[in-house]
Amino acid sequence: MNAPFLIAQATGPEVATDFSAQSKPPRLIKIARPQDNQAVTVHLDGNTKLDLSDVASDKITFVRVGDRLVILFDNQATVTIEPAFGPDGQILGDITFQVGPDRQLSGAEFAAAFPVGGSNSTGILGYVVAAQELHDQRPDIDKIIVPVGSAGTAAGLAAGIKMLNWPVTLVGACVSHTETESREDVRRLAGDIDIQVTDRAVGPGYGIPTEEMWAAVRLFAATEGVTLEPVYNGKAAAALVDMIRNGEIGDDETVVFLHTGGLPGLFAYAPDLTASV
Ligand SMILES: Cc1ncc(COP(=O)(O)O)c(C=O)c1O
Repeated sequence: MNAPFLIAQATGPEVATDFSAQSKPPRLIKIARPQDNQAVTVHLDGNTKLDLSDVASDKITFVRVGDRLVILFDNQATVTIEPAFGPDGQILGDITFQVGPDRQLSGAEFAAAFPVGGSNSTGILGYVVAAQELHDQRPDIDKIIVPVGSAGTAAGLAAGIKMLNWPVTLVGACVSHTETESREDVRRLAGDIDIQVTDRAVGPGYGIPTEEMWAAVRLFAATEGVTLEPVYNGKAAAALVDMIRNGEIGDDETVVFLHTGGLPGLFAYAPDLTASV
């Protein structure tokens, strides 16, 4: 896909944190690169400074999984920090990040430097192009089903579908928000476009596994050889399975399940996955 990418900018203001105003200095946790394939979990408990300066020049990816921040290394090792996010989805206010010898960021600045998701007017352009690409390949399809978190993916597809005047139905499967919120998110990002959304598979909340999700993950693996992670595609697949079982998707319809990737997210659920199979 020859589309624009939204690159996380590792820039931002330096923060001179004055700890004199606080009752005690933060607990310092230095993050180091684990050995190959190792999964390390760091449990946070209140006022903490995470020192990432030793891994700042490593190839790392930050992934939010529920209330956890997972750092993925290119040697297939992970460091999971939990909890790193509150119920409102924001980074907890009592975490600061040391990202270089002289550079410290508050949680909010860290989140802005490494934005979680790219759901803005630039970010959705990639999926406008994806709609064009899909249309070029399969103009005949009836439905596209896609997970909806912050709705950038769905908004880009919706905008692309509208531009193409393509009579396909886009179905967004909510993974975190209600149907009303998700529909509003799509409109905020893509303009005056309504898409079909369903929040039937969200369960108790974002990133919280459900039995239907695990059943869909097993079904896709066993029948298609396709691996899904639990947070986005597992829940969207659960919604798809339910729609088929209810007859909302007919035998004669051609449906594209748009797999948005994110496989590393599965590793954060290794114990739950093992228990479910
Ligand atoms: C696997 C996966 N799919 C989809 C998304 C994004 O969905 P949305 O564009 O609705 O936020 C994410 C975002 O983190 C993701 O990790």
